[in-house]
Amino acid sequence: MTAPVLRWSHVADHLHRALADAGAPLSAYVYDLEALRAHAATIAGSLPPGFELFYAIKANSDLPILQTLAPLAHGFEISSGGELAWVREHFAEVPLIFSGPGKTDAELAGALELGVEALHVESLHELERLAWLARERGTTAPVLLRVNLALEGLQATTLMMGGKPTPFGIAGDQLPACLTWLRAHPEIRLRGFHFHLMSHQLDAAAHLRLLDAYLQQVRRWRAEYGLDMLDQVNVGGGIGVNYREPERQFDWARFAEGLPALSAQRDGLTVRFECGRYITAFCGYYAMEVIDVKHAFDRAFAVASGGTHHFRTPYAQGHSHPFRVLPVASWRYPFARPGVREARVSVVGQLCTPKDILAYDAYVDSVRAGDLVVFPYAGAYAWHISHHDFLRHPHPRHCYLPVEDAHAAA
Ligand SMILES: Cc1ncc(COP(=O)(O)O)c(C=O)c1O
Repeated sequence: MTAPVLRWSHVADHLHRALADAGAPLSAYVYDLEALRAHAATIAGSLPPGFELFYAIKANSDLPILQTLAPLAHGFEISSGGELAWVREHFAEVPLIFSGPGKTDAELAGALELGVEALHVESLHELERLAWLARERGTTAPVLLRVNLALEGLQATTLMMGGKPTPFGIAGDQLPACLTWLRAHPEIRLRGFHFHLMSHQLDAAAHLRLLDAYLQQVRRWRAEYGLDMLDQVNVGGGIGVNYREPERQFDWARFAEGLPALSAQRDGLTVRFECGRYITAFCGYYAMEVIDVKHAFDRAFAVASGGTHHFRTPYAQGHSHPFRVLPVASWRYPFARPGVREARVSVVGQLCTPKDILAYDAYVDSVRAGDLVVFPYAGAYAWHISHHDFLRHPHPRHCYLPVEDAHAAA
């Protein structure tokens, strides 16, 4: 297994039905919850003892997505007071861990009051504020220190959060000062270390090496600073989705096979993942109805209903997003249907900017006005990272194709 199989016919059937009652050019997100359930179950089921899967809800925090994942993940990773309130409104009990830069006092206090299991602290100042809030409440704050360190042999990806100067985490050279400070502050309970140095990791072997380096580093710190009380290491998320070469996805099966060998390095600590993109990207599809097909100089453009204000992923990551054309037979006008055959075409949206481009110069057998273009891998960092209200176009529909009966009650 390298990635979930996309269930195109399931999604296409739904979209054809949606077109029938659209009334206006269709734009829609379709989420295949059964595919999400099966994928997450495979990932969670492949982890050896001592490893836990948290879902980073920033990737997609829609309620049906969270409801599908809650029974399969050990818990959710949140990164704001808004995410904390949203999760606690709907899931009173699910274990939560709180990461992210620039946490406000209100967010830190909320985490203490709403039973967050661990806060991933980003600086000494954040530690000081948290200790002060914990003291005020007569409580103890469970903490992992997020560390930014340059590891030997760290293989860079296209999105690095650490291993170089970034605003994330505590730089390795400041760690001793934090550990010294912690000795005098029993209102903070140090539970372990947190690393999230990168996103877009596509190489399973490189990721195993990275985890190995994290665990060895934690072993050295434990010995050097006498940290016997630790119980976990959070190794972040960062497992990527290959948008550019979709047939070459991260090889999760190979990765999972390598985890038991890492167990010797765990020294009894629980290893937590907090993955976002790799969990939900595959279940989502963004569909646009083509409004016009036109030529300018030597290029063809399919102008479709929607755009980067709905689906910013390709622009955010700087890629041309893969898509399929779903032919639609009906044509409502008494004049010719614009289109191209066996040609290269760029798929653009309705925004008044040349940056509103989702796919660039991609080969199609055929695309005509009235057809649907459908972008897969749109379940993570898609709707949730987009600038929805630019130009005040209507928002797309959001359709959730349910978990199938055999699993619905689980
Ligand atoms: C601290 C932290 N953990 C986890 C994630 C999830 O990363 P990904 O979606 O790449 O798995 C992010 C994403 O930015 C993050 O900042």
